[in-house]
Order: sequence, then C-alpha cells, then structure tokens
Amino acid sequence: MSNVKFYREEHQVPLEMHKVRIVQKLFLLPVEERQKKMEEAGNNTFLLHNKDIYIDMLTDSGVNAMSDNQQAAMFQADDAYAGSETFYRLKKAIKETMGLNDMLPAHQGRACENILAEAFCRPGDLVPMNFHFTTTKAHITRCGADVVELVAAKGLDANNLDPFKGDFDIPRLKKFIKDHRDQIQWLRIETGTNLIGGQPISAHNMHEVAKICREEGIISVMDASLLQDNLHFIKTREEGYKDKSIKEIMFELCADMDIVYFSARKLGFARGGCICSNNEKLMLRMKEYVPLYEGFLTYGGMEVRSMEAIAVGLYETLDEEYISQGPMFIEHMVNELHEYGVPVVRPAGGLGVHLNASEFFPDMPHGQYPAGALGAAMYIAGGIRGMERGTISEQRERDGSERYAALELLRLAVPRRVFTLSQIEYVADRVKWVWDNRKLIGGLHFVEEPAVLRFFFGRLEPIGDWQQKLVEKYRADFGDSL
Ligand code: F0G
Repeated sequence: MSNVKFYREEHQVPLEMHKVRIVQKLFLLPVEERQKKMEEAGNNTFLLHNKDIYIDMLTDSGVNAMSDNQQAAMFQADDAYAGSETFYRLKKAIKETMGLNDMLPAHQGRACENILAEAFCRPGDLVPMNFHFTTTKAHITRCGADVVELVAAKGLDANNLDPFKGDFDIPRLKKFIKDHRDQIQWLRIETGTNLIGGQPISAHNMHEVAKICREEGIISVMDASLLQDNLHFIKTREEGYKDKSIKEIMFELCADMDIVYFSARKLGFARGGCICSNNEKLMLRMKEYVPLYEGFLTYGGMEVRSMEAIAVGLYETLDEEYISQGPMFIEHMVNELHEYGVPVVRPAGGLGVHLNASEFFPDMPHGQYPAGALGAAMYIAGGIRGMERGTISEQRERDGSERYAALELLRLAVPRRVFTLSQIEYVADRVKWVWDNRKLIGGLHFVEEPAVLRFFFGRLEPIGDWQQKLVEKYRADFGDSL
C-alpha cells in the first residue's frame, strides 16, 4: 500500500498498488444448501468442495495471487531432472533476497520440516520454539522428540495489545536450556506466529534468541513461512527499523540464523519449499534426505515452473507496496469488527483475521470445540470458509487425553492480492450477524477422529439442532437474499 491520503479522511481505506487481470467466477449457494453442504462435509471446513464456497479464507497457503512477472518467468522454466537452470536462478534469488548461499529444495514447508526432524531429532530430544505449528510438531513427535513452547505470556492473551506477541520469553528460554541442555540440538523461531493469530516476533527478540543459541551451541532455525508479514510489522512497528529497507531487515535477520526454511506456498506467492543456510556442515547433514524423500537435489519434488515463480516472488517480497496489502486489509477488518464489539485477536496480525471463539461462546467447554462450531456457523451464514485453530487442531496427548488449545480461534485467512475490499466488507458483515446470533450456536462432537492431524479429515456433528435454528433466523433476517 502506498502513502496515499484520501481527501475525505474518514473514508480512508487501504489502497491496492496492483490491478486484477485474471478473474475466477464465484458462486454463493442459498443458506439451506450451505447447511446441507456443511453437514455433508462433517462440519469440517477442510472437507467442503471449493465450488460450494463464496469466500475461501481457509488459508493463505498456495492461494496467493501471482504477478504478471511470475507468470512470465514460469514460461522460461528449464525442465531437467538434474542441473536445471531454474534451480540456479532460484538459488541466486535466495542469495540476493536473503543473503544465504546454499539451498535445498523440498516440495513444501512440511517437507522441509520432515528433513529437519530426520536430521536433528533424536528420541527423547526437546525442541524449544516460540510456538508450535501443526505440521512441525507432527514431524518432531514422529521422530520421538517433543516440542516445548516458550512464547511470552502476552502471546496467549488475545486482548494484549503488544505489537510483538510472537516473542520468546527470554528468561524462561534461558532457564529451560540450563535445565535440559543435553536434550536440545536445535531451536525453532517461527516468524508471524501462525497459531496465535499471525502475531509477529520482533527483530530484537530474534537476535537475543540467536545469540543464546550461539553461546550454547544450539542450532538456530527460522521458520520463515510467514516472514513476509513479519517484515512489514518490524518496519512499521519496531523502534529503529522505520528507515531500513525490507531487504536490509531481511538480510539482518537471515544472517543471524544457522538455518532458514520456508513454505513457498506463503513466502514467495508460489508453491514449494526451501531450506537455506550459509553453514555447509549443517546442509550436508540434511542433503541426503532430499533425494530420499523429495527428488533430485536440483528440484526437490517441486515443479520447475513453481521454482521460477518462487524466485520472482522472493524479489516481490522485498517490495513494501506488495507486502503491506495483506496486513492492511486484515487491519481494516479487525478494526471494523472490534468497533462493533466482536472479539478478534488484536493487534491485527498477518495471515488473517482471528475470531476469538472462547468469547463468542464463554460457556461452551473446549471439548465441544467452540472454534469448530464457529467455523461451521460462518459457512452457513455467508458461504465463508475459515479454518479451526483451536482444540480440534491440537493432537491428543500420548495417553489419549484431549489437549485443550491455549486459544480457541477461527482463522479467516486473507490470501495475498486475492480479495477486493468489498468482499472483505461482506465477510465483516456476516461475522457481525453471527456475533449477534451467537446464542443460537451450539457445540460439535466427533463422529470420526483420525489419530494424526485429525483436523484435516475428522468428521463432526452438531450437538442438537442449532444449525437448523441458525438457518431459520437467517431467513427471518435476510428474506430471500442468498
Ligand atoms: N510453517 C508454518 C508457520 C506454516 O504456517 C505452514 C503452513 C508450514 C510451516 C507448513 O508449510 O503447508 O507448505 O507444508 N501453513 C498452512 C496454513 C498449512 O494454512 O497455515 P506447507
């Protein structure tokens, strides 16, 4: 977004510095059909068909809009099993945008995590991090190690207005390392902390953590999947960074890490994944897993056209006008909802708008999955697909008991460069309606619960007939409107 002032200040809205040149037709089903589709999908938004969705806010992963330059670059892809020029162009882009010399390709972010876990996790190990991500944790626990979350207390308080809620609690980290040094090989820093509402971590905190790692001989690993938004927040919120370019901030952060990996479905507006580093020894320990799990070293399971798109997308990540679009749309919606009284995670973060389901339904126990129930209600109310980021997204403890989420959130992701402001306004309108009718909404229970990553395929049913009542209220309020 550019610094453009509106003449009527009260009408100031985020202004895009791009235009749309390819469009996709969308459909909005009548509310009765939306209820039926939700039932068929087992009340799990992952199981809905895309054709039945009006506004898809499930994720920002692999659904960001590509630029004309990315599309053009894809035509130049060099298809070869080994030694593709595309690989060298991507490597050069990583060098020029992140300052990192070496890169291992993988088909997406979790594939990088698989390799990291295989290379650096022994049974009984502990991997400290500000906060877990679902796929990261699944790979680490599969290798017999455990994740330890050391985010500062502010990060778990949906109403704390600190600008950097993804920060580590440094005293706790130091104590934890002192008590468990033998079990720690690596530490993970998640930028744009996903599961606590896309909240950024400050450059200051990252540097402190990296310094501790250096002093202790622990490998520092940055998950840069959501770094794009985090860079924007460092520049706009952190003292001392206003006058630095995004590229300078990027170089400064990457230089302090032993390893940087990312999902290019998010960073780079494309699809794929990369592990990057200046440390040859560490790269050597991971290298052998690329041909084993992914593909030959010069494509790593990625399609060469995607690799060209990542390369161009990384340069675009250094463009403030591009990278501020997501955070500013999110802020616009968060402000509007907050003014109406809807509980949303604040301050506005990256990735999407996060509704606080615990405050929608203060009396609903975690075991009835309030965030999942809110997700089902949002689809019924507006054909809007969000993602449950609460207890359903947790995995059960090793003894089979439920692990209740620290925050019960429904995430409404805002894919980058995709939606218009009127669509964002529509979503905010339907969220307000759901908020005003929250007393009609009840919980869910599992009817099919997979053992691993249950939120992807699990099927649930509503407790009682609340969905029917919601549809009736919708008809009463909206008449024959879709
Ligand atoms: N790390 C973070 C912080 C992520 O947000 C994701 C994916 C991954 C790693 C894994 O990357 O999907 O390419 O395998 N997040 C997606 C989401 C799935 O919807 O938030 P991947």
